[in-house]
Amino acid sequence: MEVLSLAGTVFIGYNLIRFILYISKFVRTPVDVRKLGDWAVVTGATDGIGKGFANRLASQGINVVLVSRSLSKLQDVAGELEEKYKIKTVVIAVDFTEPELVYNNISEGIKNIEGGIGLLINNVGMGYEHPEYFLEIENCAEACRNMVNCNVSSVLNVTRAVLPSMVNRGKGAVINLSSFSSLQSTPLLSVYSSTKAFVNQFSQDLEIEYRGKGIVVQALAPCYVVSKLSKVRSASFFIPSPETYAKSALNTLGLETISTGYWPHDLMLFGVNVLSVLGIQGWYVFSNLSQMRTRALKKKAKTN
Ligand SMILES: NC(=O)c1ccc[n+]([C@@H]2O[C@H](COP(=O)([O-])OP(=O)(O)OC[C@H]3O[C@@H](n4cnc5c(N)ncnc54)[C@H](OP(=O)(O)O)[C@@H]3O)[C@@H](O)[C@H]2O)c1
Repeated sequence: MEVLSLAGTVFIGYNLIRFILYISKFVRTPVDVRKLGDWAVVTGATDGIGKGFANRLASQGINVVLVSRSLSKLQDVAGELEEKYKIKTVVIAVDFTEPELVYNNISEGIKNIEGGIGLLINNVGMGYEHPEYFLEIENCAEACRNMVNCNVSSVLNVTRAVLPSMVNRGKGAVINLSSFSSLQSTPLLSVYSSTKAFVNQFSQDLEIEYRGKGIVVQALAPCYVVSKLSKVRSASFFIPSPETYAKSALNTLGLETISTGYWPHDLMLFGVNVLSVLGIQGWYVFSNLSQMRTRALKKKAKTN
């Protein structure tokens, strides 16, 4: 009986401490990105969350290096930001599925920037066309190669190109876009979620390596955000617009190394943890994603 009551006290105490630590993030002050440098680099900046971050930073007077695949889309976004916020932009077109060129292109593109790059947002990423069994992913070898290059190698190569100047200046921040899928079992999205688990691990290790040099590193693991990738078109309480998400996520910088970046997604994470304790989280996601897969395959069959 005494052992049980001791275990109960430890359990309640542990969860109370976790709750207090969680609540404390709402009263602590996040890193002020304006104080890190005049410029930010955002990858995957022509759409979705990346464009949301670029807009948010530009609205705070920060100049932005926009990196993405298509030059014409980059020029459109750069034009919009310059006109609306009177900031400077640089555009760099690279295809992250071809990692050999990434480091040189980024290094070359940023070498003449004056004023210092204070923030890097490794946002670019790609997912599945629809949830699928590993062996049944269309063109599995090529699709996996592209996903690993775009979601993993991009983070390593762009960080390698940008971090040295931050270290020289003794300040900066690196934000890496992970995903909620990396915080739970996500059957039928196994390759995608595994690339994002890499992002979490890399970020958390890099944070400790470079903290002493004045650099903050964070992984953001959002659940759904309105975008082409998520295929969700309208915002709601649990599914923010990219702009709402970017604003909320920047308010967690320096407060949490791995964060959902949006408190309603923390509520969802709590739900996931409850399902995990009950031992049914993986099954729950599998059954939901199976239904999504069935609908997507039916739609595909109709259009073919
Ligand atoms: N949206 C969500 O619900 C959600 C949830 C969790 C995590 N995330 C993560 O958040 C990040 C952004 O997602 P998103 O939903 O905003 O994506 P998105 O709307 O599909 O936008 C992706 C951006 O990346 C660019 N891009 C894609 N493939 C590229 C490539 N091979 N080379 C260069 N640029 C490329 C796109 O350029 P183009 O316009 O030229 O295609 C676009 O600017 C990703 O890392 C994703 O995994 C998203």
